[in-house]
Amino acid sequence: MLDPVLPAARPHLLCIVAARPNLMKMAPILAAFATLAPQVRISLVHTGQHYDTAMNAQVFADLGMRAPDINLEVGSGSHAQQTAEIMRRYESVHLDLAPHAVLVVGDVNSTLACALVAAKLGTPVIHVEAGLRSGDRAMPEEINRVLTDQLSELLFTSEAGARANLLREGIAGQRIHFAGNVMIDSLLRQLPDAVPPRISLQAHGRDYPPAYGLLTLHRPSNVDDGARLATLMETMCSLSAQLPLLFPVHPRTRAMLEKTGLERRLREHAVMLLPPLGYLEMLGLMQGARLVLTDSGGIQEETTALGVPCLTLRDNTERPVTVDEGTNVIAGTDPAAILSLARQVLRTGGKRGRIPQYWDGHAAERIATATTQWLSARLAP
Ligand code: UD1
Repeated sequence: MLDPVLPAARPHLLCIVAARPNLMKMAPILAAFATLAPQVRISLVHTGQHYDTAMNAQVFADLGMRAPDINLEVGSGSHAQQTAEIMRRYESVHLDLAPHAVLVVGDVNSTLACALVAAKLGTPVIHVEAGLRSGDRAMPEEINRVLTDQLSELLFTSEAGARANLLREGIAGQRIHFAGNVMIDSLLRQLPDAVPPRISLQAHGRDYPPAYGLLTLHRPSNVDDGARLATLMETMCSLSAQLPLLFPVHPRTRAMLEKTGLERRLREHAVMLLPPLGYLEMLGLMQGARLVLTDSGGIQEETTALGVPCLTLRDNTERPVTVDEGTNVIAGTDPAAILSLARQVLRTGGKRGRIPQYWDGHAAERIATATTQWLSARLAP
């Protein structure tokens, strides 16, 4: 146990979750505080950005994560509406709870919205997964990352290169700590319970193709434009002649596939649509895949940790270590390039890769230790 403090000075940390990928990042952090620093009082606030059972409750259950103390139930909206509504609802909760610090993870709208409220109220912000940069300001997450880092007093990075990005933006070196990847903490902890692909596909009424590729797509740049989505889907139909594809579909993508009639086209090919999956099902499918095609940030990291080849269907990544050291290749969105890279993976087995530094299952422990020491120092008389 670290630095026990008197009950009167009990540090109070408010942790924010909002969207599916936040949950895998927060679960190990909560567990590490419970074990290493039980003297820190933790409040868990869910903004309600993701609310579907499959996007939220199932993942809580899979991670064995405790229920939030408060849910702001903001739901969906335009970026301005959603961000403003989170700020409006979060401010009064923050004032009521009066935490000593607020811990946010990742890069979703709720991350920035809560960081902004806390910073304006004079409460220090701690950012986990700081310093990732794609250099692409057309991505809403890039704006959220840059601004959240500027608002944060304590910044935990998940890959070594992130530090240089932060220093370049004028953030003082002593505020930056290389903790490692909390998402990989969750992966390593939950992998023994991953659901075998055959079982999860049976549960969804699907045949089990022993060799398959796994596809996920949800970035606005790929799915919000019907013509662009159609081109990507045609590419996937071509690939599926060689390798059947399993496609768990995000609600944003599902809406566009239905609107454009592309869903029907996919059903004529070996592209199997699935609902959004639980975390343990997704781990099982990733682990068993010959190839993963994705535009998700988290999946680029998870495939590197699993040693499974990944083609990223974007022109850039904010997680360059997955390319430099891991199994990830930036494939872009050009059909010929994607098909050529995918066929190369099928021929050669793809990049071997190695596990990046501190993707070792102990990132959350480093965060809990450093945060507790920092909070204790701040609260010392
Ligand atoms: C958000 C994050 C993205 C993250 C992704 C993980 C932002 C800017 N984006 O994108 O970084 O990778 O979560 O999934 O914060 N919807 C539902 N049910 C839900 C949630 C959303 O049906 O539980 C639908 C709604 O139609 C909504 C749309 O999905 O309009 C988009 O949801 P939103 O939370 O705005 O962004 P995501 O695309 O999920």
